[in-house]
Amino acid sequence: MARRMLIAGNWKMNGLRQSLVLIEEIRGVANSRSDLDILIAPPATLIESAAKIAGPVKIAGQDCHTEQSGAHTGDISAEMLRDAGASHVILGHSERRADHNEPSAMVRAKALAALSAGLIPVICVGESEAERRAGTAEEVVGQQLEDSLPDRRGYIIAYEPVWAIGTGLTASLDDIAAMHGFIRSKVPGGSKVQILYGGSVKPENASGILSISEVDGALVGGASLEADSFSAIIEAAPIRFASSK
Ligand code: PGA
Repeated sequence: MARRMLIAGNWKMNGLRQSLVLIEEIRGVANSRSDLDILIAPPATLIESAAKIAGPVKIAGQDCHTEQSGAHTGDISAEMLRDAGASHVILGHSERRADHNEPSAMVRAKALAALSAGLIPVICVGESEAERRAGTAEEVVGQQLEDSLPDRRGYIIAYEPVWAIGTGLTASLDDIAAMHGFIRSKVPGGSKVQILYGGSVKPENASGILSISEVDGALVGGASLEADSFSAIIEAAPIRFASSK
């Protein structure tokens, strides 16, 4: 089953208006790699201007509320992200799970809100270092999947071991392949679901990671903040389709 590759950049809380030049630079790479999808998640303040200049690059939010509107000061709804020009939203990132105490049930409610608003949720799961060392990585990720995934199709999953995010450490290729196979076996219609790997993906390790047949792309943090490194990661993705959709 051939799934499209997706290379996603998560800018996190980085980016001022001057950073939009990065989108313009990536647009050129996107034009030459129409076999895959490229997604950039800038901070919410830049979504509308990013979407206007994105061309074939798709734009994502980094979080959304469980409701579409209401008295929730400071929050952003899926409908608002869509209205600003986003097509996707990252949900359940480990930084949100840790910094904002987001439980999986909330991630699931957000995913349903995103799907209802016409956004594709990119749902993140991943074990901590202690859980990996204790041999419970699959158990933890399995539980996160069970509690975070909505019962509607149309989502993307990102496997991001927490200990690999922003640390320069990456899981071994064998561990990535094993976890992606495990995730696919747990998810309804798993052979069709795009599963990304995230956690210190860099130009130097991208080709090895993206060549794993179970891996359908990458969710890139730090290395997505520079056009050169993000472009190199995109170029490292194997061509799964000869032409665009
Ligand atoms: P990193 O972040 O590439 O900087 O490790 C990945 C992520 O948090 O999505």
